[in-house]
Amino acid sequence: MTSHRPLAVIIGMPGAGKTRVGRQAAALLGAPFIDADQRIEDEIGMGIAQYFERHGETAFRSVEASLIQGLLEDYDGILSLGGGAPMTTETRRALRQYVADGGKLVYLQADPREAMERARRGGNRPMLSGDADARWKQLFEQRDPVFTALSNLHVRTHGSTPHMAAKKLTEAIMQRTIHITGKAIEAYDVRVGESSMRQLPETLGDNPTKVALIHTQPVQRHADHARALLRQSGYLVSDVVIPDAEAGKTVQVANGIWERLGREGFTRSDAIVGLGGGAATDLAGFVAATWMRGIRYVNCPTSLLAMVDASTGGKTGVNTTQGKNLVGSFYTPAGVLADLRTLETLPNDIFIEGLGEVAKSGLIMDEGILDLLEDHADELRGFDGGSFIDSPLEPVVSELIERTVRVKAYHVSNDLKEAGLREFLNYGHTLAHAIETLEHFTWRHGNAVAVGCVYAAELAHLLGYIDQDLVDYHRSLLRSLGLPVAWQHENWDEVLDLMHRDKKARGDTLRFVILDGIGHPIHLDDPPQEAVHEAFVRVQQDPADK
Ligand SMILES: NC(=O)c1ccc[n+]([C@@H]2O[C@H](COP(=O)([O-])OP(=O)(O)OC[C@H]3O[C@@H](n4cnc5c(N)ncnc54)[C@H](O)[C@@H]3O)[C@@H](O)[C@H]2O)c1
Ligand SMILES: [Zn+2]
Repeated sequence: MTSHRPLAVIIGMPGAGKTRVGRQAAALLGAPFIDADQRIEDEIGMGIAQYFERHGETAFRSVEASLIQGLLEDYDGILSLGGGAPMTTETRRALRQYVADGGKLVYLQADPREAMERARRGGNRPMLSGDADARWKQLFEQRDPVFTALSNLHVRTHGSTPHMAAKKLTEAIMQRTIHITGKAIEAYDVRVGESSMRQLPETLGDNPTKVALIHTQPVQRHADHARALLRQSGYLVSDVVIPDAEAGKTVQVANGIWERLGREGFTRSDAIVGLGGGAATDLAGFVAATWMRGIRYVNCPTSLLAMVDASTGGKTGVNTTQGKNLVGSFYTPAGVLADLRTLETLPNDIFIEGLGEVAKSGLIMDEGILDLLEDHADELRGFDGGSFIDSPLEPVVSELIERTVRVKAYHVSNDLKEAGLREFLNYGHTLAHAIETLEHFTWRHGNAVAVGCVYAAELAHLLGYIDQDLVDYHRSLLRSLGLPVAWQHENWDEVLDLMHRDKKARGDTLRFVILDGIGHPIHLDDPPQEAVHEAFVRVQQDPADK
């Protein structure tokens, strides 16, 4: 059964611009547009006001409800509803179902004064007869809580030109939202889209007065944007620049920020925004988790790896001189805003590294990811931030991010703490961690994971779990994306020793994640030493280089 459901349904107060902005947004998206009121008038063969007069509101609402239900089931464009439509029980029920099925119900919020003015001018609105402004306010009080609760996207058009409002609406519609829930965590959303950073204020909420914006220097431009958005919404923003990459993930840096938060009077109700690659979001999360035993924080990841991995899943932490991520805590953000525009400045090699984790997620769970990677390998490998936005690659990357976050969400939803299911995300990581250490962290994580996946595939093949074709597929896919598939190291004992120190290892026995088919990860405990070594021999050379 193919489902035809509207691309988006727009609700809002009279005069909010549902028809005007909705129509323009549909044009931008090349989607059809229906105004439910217009459709009803065509059907009943008279104006709505006239119908109200003759038959009363109840009769009108019932015509309206059945028409909307029909459209919700069999229409795939943008649908705008009359202002009072969601106040009917049947319509509300149908809209709830639409949202539950993954639909996008947009509450379009205009400046009340402008909306009132437009509603008055528009005329022909039976619900506003009498003192139109007073009536509008009264309806607003009744409807706003219902609209807010019912909708899953809120678009504020205050101070926007009609064109800007339409652009905002299209961005909201095209945005991908992944809802992360679990037993041990407070639910939050990961929002992937062009300009999703604009949702910083609503994600932070009204409580915080002060916001510490923690970021690194290479993403200054995006931090400036975030700061402007926050200031516009009335927050007092402290700009906190930390050293780049792993140098920022130390307890000394955290301590400097704790001191600053203290001096600047940050309380439990204030908030932190972490903006940057995974190192910055890990550190920001750690500070948020520890300041006053935990304050609200929002992640704005700016690297592909941070978007698909580091910023979700609830792990935060810092490095010590003994190693990476040795100190930290599980702490969930209030939301993650993966703004695709930030990728405009991301260097090609750091983008490609992120594809290592994306491919891993495809291999353990989602063949759809693998299809996308295969179909767009050349464009992905040639990623150029400068020409990324509005290129054909943008929707591809956006879908890859969404799918990869969903894979992660699935594996962390049941057990936030390290345990069986979550461990599958560590496919390829046992060798990867050894590579990173032995290369003194000059190898990027995602690159090491790519080699680690090939290693795990060789191991699985040696033990009879998968055939040679699947091992070859690992290599050809990763290679096509510009990722490494081989790594040499002379001293096997050092490698083995480090793999023993992997978090998955239990006591003296090694533990790996391997596949027994695409999408079927399993745990492998204490495999024969010869196989563990032979797989390493095979990963030292890329057969394609022979
Ligand atoms: N918490 C978790 O679950 C988790 C998961 C995976 C990785 N991590 C951590 O994430 C870190 C790796 O993340 P990463 O790969 O993003 O590395 P990173 O944070 O070091 O960023 C890599 C480099 O890219 C720069 N950069 C990031 N976004 C940019 C942009 N939009 N434009 C220009 N430059 C940009 C950074 O400033 C840095 O120089 C590691 O510290 C790792 O431990 C954490
Ligand atoms: Zn990883």
